[in-house]
Amino acid sequence: MIEELLNVVVRKRELQGGGVVVLDLIRCDGAALPAFDAGAHVDIHIAPGLVRQYSLCSNPGDPSVYRLGVLKDPASRGGSVGVHDTLLEGRELQISAPRNLFPLAGQARRTILLGGGIGITPMIAMAYTLHTAGQDFELHYCGRERGRSAFLDELAGSPFAANVFTHFDDEGLEQRLDLATVLGRGEAGVHMYTCGPAGFMEWVIQGARDLGYTEEHIHKEYFQVEVDSSGASFEVVAARSGKSVQVAEGQSILAALAHVGIKIEISCEQGVCGTCLCDVLEGEPDHRDVYLTDDEKAANDQILVCCSRAKSKKLVLDI
Ligand code: FES
Repeated sequence: MIEELLNVVVRKRELQGGGVVVLDLIRCDGAALPAFDAGAHVDIHIAPGLVRQYSLCSNPGDPSVYRLGVLKDPASRGGSVGVHDTLLEGRELQISAPRNLFPLAGQARRTILLGGGIGITPMIAMAYTLHTAGQDFELHYCGRERGRSAFLDELAGSPFAANVFTHFDDEGLEQRLDLATVLGRGEAGVHMYTCGPAGFMEWVIQGARDLGYTEEHIHKEYFQVEVDSSGASFEVVAARSGKSVQVAEGQSILAALAHVGIKIEISCEQGVCGTCLCDVLEGEPDHRDVYLTDDEKAANDQILVCCSRAKSKKLVLDI
């Protein structure tokens, strides 16, 4: 199925602290954009063949604009640098409709949002939604330095400013994030959400588990993942065509399949977005993604071929 894309234009662009560019996108025809729920992202078609996902950080109650914040990553594989260098005010581009892999749980008694660095973006949309719904929540924003952090003015001027707490590495001990105090003991109806650099997220997630939070109450979204492609060679069979290929050490299944003419749709190439998901008919995957849940990984009947490998000598895929 060919996905219908939206034609949008960069109405406003602002460079904020820490090398984050904040873009406001509106439809080229001036019509309202599709509604979205907090936590959603869109695929941004930056250039031919260059598609990246960014969380929406505007108010989900305002369908006139989508706002994104993009950190310029020195290790960029083209995405963030492309956004910074080419998405100037007035530039027209195409984006996907919003998709949500990080939704708010319904009926929470209390919600704690923990954003690290640019991971604050989905949390801002969540805060708008929770505030509008009159729900009990706190938003904690952690960063290295106040002067190198984006969105501070927006958060301070927001209708939920009283629910926002900031924590910076270079400021006093009294404002440091104390997980035990902020999260409290895990209990029914209390949900926590985190997004940010991998180290920050691991610390927050482990802290929540130690405090008794169950997996259903820990919500996480990874935006940057180191893809580990090491591991022994194995065979992949594409069942529908009967084609077989050997995946070399350090090579992705995706790349090996391309060699025999089998193309799989991809987007992030980091095991984050789920676009390259394939069904496994035989063999045991070695999951390296952050998209599938632990239960889905344990079932071993699906694999993300951009990053995962095989524990068995052979993998048969339903492609
Ligand atoms: S392309 Fe995004 S998970 Fe594979």
